[in-house]
Order: sequence, then structure tokens, then C-alpha cells
Amino acid sequence: MSIKDIRVFGDPVLTKKADEVKDFDKQIRNLVKDLTETMLEAPGVGLAAPQIGVSLRVFTYCVEEDKPGHLINPVLSLTNNSQEGDEGCLSVPGLAFNTKRSYGVIATGKNMYGEDIVIEGSELLARCIQHETDHLDGIIFNTQGGFDLVSKIYSSVASHPNVAILPVTIEEVIKPQLPPKTNNELRVAILGNLNHHK
Ligand code: NI
Repeated sequence: MSIKDIRVFGDPVLTKKADEVKDFDKQIRNLVKDLTETMLEAPGVGLAAPQIGVSLRVFTYCVEEDKPGHLINPVLSLTNNSQEGDEGCLSVPGLAFNTKRSYGVIATGKNMYGEDIVIEGSELLARCIQHETDHLDGIIFNTQGGFDLVSKIYSSVASHPNVAILPVTIEEVIKPQLPPKTNNELRVAILGNLNHHK
């Protein structure tokens, strides 16, 4: 088991819809361990498999003093009431955005042994579960912001020491996905093709 490099914005694995896990084998258990170690070392409250370059529907979380947990093939049931608050992402270092989320969530899925599990949470845990599930759908930030948001992300990532930016304009590099409207908010996903070197 090991600590993995965290992929940053621009890596195509982050904007791809991740695959369902079908085989709950040793590889999946190793993936959960790698995600957990990498998340705790960062440190972060959540980490999704695409963020370490694995396009599978798996994420780990560790909110406050709780023990780290994980969820595979998540299906979310959201409460109608919402919360507002800043949200950051290890793949977009140094930035946080006010992001409206459901206040509570009931998440069903599997653990690394293929057993059915349910995670029920509110506030930060609910925010984390929604954020990580977005990652599995290739969504980096689910918030209002449009082009302005994209520009900010671009600038932040451009100053990241491990990323090489091609000499092109933002318009050429980043194409915001067509925005399916949810709750009158713009769902922003970002497609990047920046060169990414480690
Ligand atoms: Ni994130």
C-alpha cells in the first residue's frame, strides 16, 4: 500500500465518468487502502479513486475525528433542505468556493468486501459524500460560477508546481460541459487537456 500522487485539474481522468466496480477482489481492497492513506496524508476529508488516476466508483472519507470510511458504487438519496458553505478539492489546490448542497444524505453502496452498506450523514459528511460522488461522474465543482469559476481554477492550477501549462488561452484549453440545470444552478464540469507532469 502506498501514498499516491493526487491528480490535479487538467488530468482527463478527473472529467471522465468512472466505472462501476464489479469484482470485489484484492485489487479493490488495495485501492481503498491507497485512497485512505493518500487522503489522510494530504490531509483531506474525502478522496475519490479518479483523483489517484483510477476510474472506478470508489471514494474514501474522514470527517472530523471519525474513523475513515469508504463507499463503492454509491447511490445517493438527498434531503430537500440545503446547506451553504465553502468547498475545496485536493485536485484544485488552494481554492474554495461557496457551494450549495443538500443538508443530508443517505448513501447506499458496497464496502470493499462487496457487502451492502448505508451511510447516513448531514452537514460536512453529507457535503463530502456529494462532492466525492460528483468526482465519480467527472464533475470537479458543482456550483455556480461559469466561466469566472473556470478562470479561477485555471489560474490556481497554473501555479501548481507539478503542472505544466500549454501556451494556449483558457478558451482553447477548457470547455465547460453543457450545463444540465439542477435546482436553477449551473452544474459546472470542466474538461481540460492540460499537460500534466509529475
Ligand atoms: Ni474533490
